[in-house]
Amino acid sequence: MKAGICLSIGLTVLSPTGSYANPQLALAFGCFNCHGAIQRGDAPTFERLSGKLAKFKGDSVAEANFVSKYRSGEPLERVEAHERLSPETAKTLVHWLVEGGK
Ligand code: HEC
Repeated sequence: MKAGICLSIGLTVLSPTGSYANPQLALAFGCFNCHGAIQRGDAPTFERLSGKLAKFKGDSVAEANFVSKYRSGEPLERVEAHERLSPETAKTLVHWLVEGGK
């Protein structure tokens, strides 16, 4: 477990993109509280979500549409943690998931 954490931090540092779209960002925004390995309520795990969002790969228009839908939520399924995000952060986090959420 500990070794796994070290490894993923190492990979993040070595990431050639140098972008901040990584698990640390999701961690900072508390996303794992609901989407972590231990599911809470009806929130899908990030693993399942990124499997679902992989369909947006290479389709930036559909991805952008999803980001705005995601931030506003459905009338009966509002998640405050989603709505609090700035458009830029929401975009970065959704893109991180589209790319596999690793
Ligand atoms: C309070 C719990 C909670 C937190 C915190 C939370 N989520 Fe969610 N999230 C949910 C629930 C519940 C759903 C499923 C309902 C839905 O689709 O809106 C969901 C769905 C999603 C979806 C899929 C939306 C869709 O329309 O298919 C994405 C993407 C997502 N969350 C990303 C995030 C990110 C990124 C963060 C961190 C900023 C985050 N969530 C924080 C509860 C949470």
